[in-house]
Amino acid sequence: MKIFLDTANLESIKKFNDMGLLDGITTNPSLMSKEGGNPKDAMAEITKIIKGDVSLEVVSTEYSGMMEEGKRLREYGDNVVVKVPMTPDGLKACKSLSSEGIPVNVTLIFSPNQALLAAKSGARYVSPFIGRLDDIGQNGINLIQEIKEIFKNYPHLKTQILVASVRHPIHVVDAAKIGADVVTLPPAVLDKMLHHPLTKIGLDNFLADWEKLKAGNPNIKI
Ligand code: E4P
Repeated sequence: MKIFLDTANLESIKKFNDMGLLDGITTNPSLMSKEGGNPKDAMAEITKIIKGDVSLEVVSTEYSGMMEEGKRLREYGDNVVVKVPMTPDGLKACKSLSSEGIPVNVTLIFSPNQALLAAKSGARYVSPFIGRLDDIGQNGINLIQEIKEIFKNYPHLKTQILVASVRHPIHVVDAAKIGADVVTLPPAVLDKMLHHPLTKIGLDNFLADWEKLKAGNPNIKI
């Protein structure tokens, strides 16, 4: 399963990229707004740091505006995936951009039918938002299961399932069990996945035992 980071925060992107964990990035207008400053600088920097797919989202809601913005966003790099909302105009733009060779991520997917339609429009990625479904008392992971089951029946559909709106590490385990193609994670969730209390206790014990050994042999070195 590929891991994308769901952020426009450069510090987090550099931190996890240096660990070799990032296959790509997803952003959206809210994440850009959270960082403040000029989003153009952020987009230029992110597409330079990350070699994999970087989703940059349009803010127009009608077809021609989405096409213009999509083409402008693509100027940041060949790794840019244009993110469009799951609307009739979004799907029309998805179809046009995809047939021009520009990959598209259809975002704000909340049902299996929306995922199926976005795939038919030629999307490289569909982004089902599981945390926001959980928030309203619907099971987000079930949606991933359903989309996976449907896509499996139609192997000619090359669209990848990009699990979005991830809130905690259990979401990641569940998505991986289902065989989702990608999860996009807020930095805090990826950080939590790194740690386990037994890892910390184990390391502390190893180091304490090493110090005991060194007490009898002060010149010892690895
Ligand atoms: C997806 O690409 C979105 O950026 C994101 O996952 C939205 O998640 P949220 O529900 O935490 O805002």
